[in-house]
Amino acid sequence: MIVCSCNVLSDKDVTAAIAAGARRPSAVYAHKKCQADCGKCTRQICRLLKESGVEGITGCPPDLDGPETCAAAACVPSSPVASLP
Ligand code: FES
Repeated sequence: MIVCSCNVLSDKDVTAAIAAGARRPSAVYAHKKCQADCGKCTRQICRLLKESGVEGITGCPPDLDGPETCAAAACVPSSPVASLP
């Protein structure tokens, strides 16, 4: 399954990066010698990091599971969202 369409990273690529020691999305990209472009895949990469059970994950949003499952304090945005005109 393709996780990152910009860089054509598959879930197997992400798993291989985690096995090689990646503990944050940027390290997953670096393992494949690429970097985030649009960033839409970051949450999925973070989910795969979390599901791998490895310790020391950084660089992922605190509300990874969405507001319905995360702790209330972690669901508060760190900055206000700009209102649309
Ligand atoms: S989908 Fe991964 S950077 Fe765009």
